[in-house]
Amino acid sequence: MIRFIRAEDTLPVRNEILRDGKLNLEQCRFTGDEDPESFHLGYFADEKLVCIATFHARGYIDFAGKAYQLRGMATLAAYQGKGIGNQLLNFAIVYLRGQNVNYLWCNGRVPAVKFYLGLGFEPVTDIFEIPGTGPHKVLYLKIK
Ligand SMILES: CC(C)(COP(=O)(O)OP(=O)(O)OC[C@H]1O[C@@H](n2cnc3c(N)ncnc32)[C@H](O)[C@@H]1OP(=O)(O)O)[C@@H](O)C(=O)NCCC(=O)NCCS
Repeated sequence: MIRFIRAEDTLPVRNEILRDGKLNLEQCRFTGDEDPESFHLGYFADEKLVCIATFHARGYIDFAGKAYQLRGMATLAAYQGKGIGNQLLNFAIVYLRGQNVNYLWCNGRVPAVKFYLGLGFEPVTDIFEIPGTGPHKVLYLKIK
């Protein structure tokens, strides 16, 4: 089941999957998490939060229109490869289309690029390094 969740609900999964469990939960917050237009989605398996994604209302420099940035996309290791991340993002895409959002973009980690391509995202940059979290590409998905 997919639900809207609070920013603080995402923090343990962010830490475990995106920060190798090395940070404290406060360090896993992103600037903008609490902005009124931001939202967070969670996929629950038997009431356990197993997959998260955060959406900040923020455009990418090269594109005009109403935009959201996808951040903190993560599925607990034991639940990866089962189509859960795909379901969560498809839910978000339908929701964002209903909000008249033109596009979604993200800084996608290189090992996750194939996952984003499978959802229809297109790469718009070469690989670049984000200190601490490794090689990334910007990916773009036209919504409306
Ligand atoms: C990237 C990540 C969020 C994907 O989440 P996920 O729940 O594993 O995603 P899915 O299961 O929907 O898709 C993963 C793969 O499983 C496959 N898959 C298996 N069963 C599936 C099903 N029933 N339906 C759809 N896809 C399925 C997909 O084809 C996909 O393959 P691909 O990556 O080669 O395209 C997750 O692997 C993760 O948390 N990775 C570590 C953190 C990370 O890199 N996050 C992204 C930061 S940018």
